[in-house]
Amino acid sequence: MTIVYAREQNLSVEDYAAVVSETTMRTNRPLANPARVAEMLAGSNLIVSARDADGTILGLARCMSDTAWICYCSDLAVKESAQGRGIGKALLDKCTELLGPRIGLVIAAYPEAAPFYEKIGMEPAQAFYRGRTDDK
Ligand SMILES: CC(C)(COP(=O)(O)OP(=O)(O)OC[C@H]1O[C@@H](n2cnc3c(N)ncnc32)[C@H](O)[C@@H]1OP(=O)(O)O)[C@@H](O)C(=O)NCCC(=O)NCCS
Repeated sequence: MTIVYAREQNLSVEDYAAVVSETTMRTNRPLANPARVAEMLAGSNLIVSARDADGTILGLARCMSDTAWICYCSDLAVKESAQGRGIGKALLDKCTELLGPRIGLVIAAYPEAAPFYEKIGMEPAQAFYRGRTDDK
């Protein structure tokens, strides 16, 4: 099946939720608050999707970059029904292609996803996190 990887200019809250709700990330994103998800999408300056031939979204990478040095990928998610087909790697490859050679890509990995990032050749890097106090 052909899968199209492309930059999204206006990813909908519905498409974001369609992916994230079908991953383990569902419990760690404010899917019950669509207005907050809309803010998250509006504040992300690089979003790449994977869609099948009929346009159904299968996965996404949601990132923020200064466009000159660094890019932070906040969400990398592939629907459980589509995992294991190279989509996660291809989403990050598309991000790298769009960002170009000047910009590094950082992801604070879930522990269970760390073997995936190592498998696709990313270097381990220690992350530190100051948590939010409002997660609704
Ligand atoms: C992590 C995730 C994005 C990977 O996407 P995916 O499309 O299933 O991964 P791919 O098919 O591109 O995998 C690429 C390679 O990594 C391997 N791989 C994938 N997940 C792996 C894992 N958890 N552990 C070890 N290897 C893994 C694949 O077998 C594949 O290897 P191959 O090239 O030898 O076939 C996806 O599983 C996901 O959405 N998980 C839930 C949300 C999540 O944890 N996101 C990351 C938050 S940090």
